Amino acid sequence: MNVLEAAGIVSGYGDLEILHGVSLSVGAGEVVAIIGPNGCGKSTLMKTIFGLLTPTAGTVTFRGADITGQPPHAIVGQGLSYVPQADNTFLSLTVQENLAMGAFLRSDTIAAQSAMVYDLFPDLKDRRGTKVSALSGGQRQMVAMARALMLKPQLLMLDEPTAGLAPVFVETVFKRIAHVNAQGIAVLMVEQNARMALEHARRGYVLADGENRYTDASSALLANKEIARLYLGGDL
Ligand SMILES: Nc1ncnc2c1ncn2[C@@H]1O[C@H](COP(=O)(O)OP(=O)(O)O)[C@@H](O)[C@H]1O
Ligand SMILES: [Mg+2]
Repeated sequence: MNVLEAAGIVSGYGDLEILHGVSLSVGAGEVVAIIGPNGCGKSTLMKTIFGLLTPTAGTVTFRGADITGQPPHAIVGQGLSYVPQADNTFLSLTVQENLAMGAFLRSDTIAAQSAMVYDLFPDLKDRRGTKVSALSGGQRQMVAMARALMLKPQLLMLDEPTAGLAPVFVETVFKRIAHVNAQGIAVLMVEQNARMALEHARRGYVLADGENRYTDASSALLANKEIARLYLGGDL
């Protein structure tokens, strides 16, 4: 069964329509990548799925229930966590305080869930008392992901988790995403780092101009010369 299904999403900002009927699905436990040029509507799609924007047409179904138009706090409570592209941590709080903020709906399970999350992000455990403002960009991205996992989501949505990171951290973030997925958590990620994202995903969607352009297994997208030329930064 699909954990997430977005069908015919039309959405944007006021009168400005950005998505003109986009559809996608994520299977239970699947890793799916969304790629496409800057400004094509990837973040807008994430925001619409998460209830930060209300679509003017189309439906969002999560674990079989229609969540279209529901507010983010209601969607989080059903098991969908989202890490936005920017400003995704509380800089003036410590790592552990950030995790506690992520668990605001389940104060009873903070200790148990922190332990689970620190197992997935061992590098954060030693820094649990450190203010996030003192961490590197890569470590902050780990904190954002760890916080999103505090509610035991079935689906984790990540908007450009490797943006602005040094190559060594990019590799680490993708490794952590694989560890998260190995817990049975489905992942839907938007990435500029398109080739690496597809290498770490089972399926991919190429968006262009607010529409679905290609949908296929990652291996097929990676092998497609036209896609490589247009969206993956060069020939194979
Ligand atoms: N808050 C906003 N108000 C108006 N237009 C916006 C807003 N956010 C994004 N846009 C516009 O929507 C389009 C798609 O943006 P976005 O979804 O962020 O693209 P992507 O994530 O694929 O780079 C762009 O043209 C962008 O300028
Ligand atoms: Mg974006």
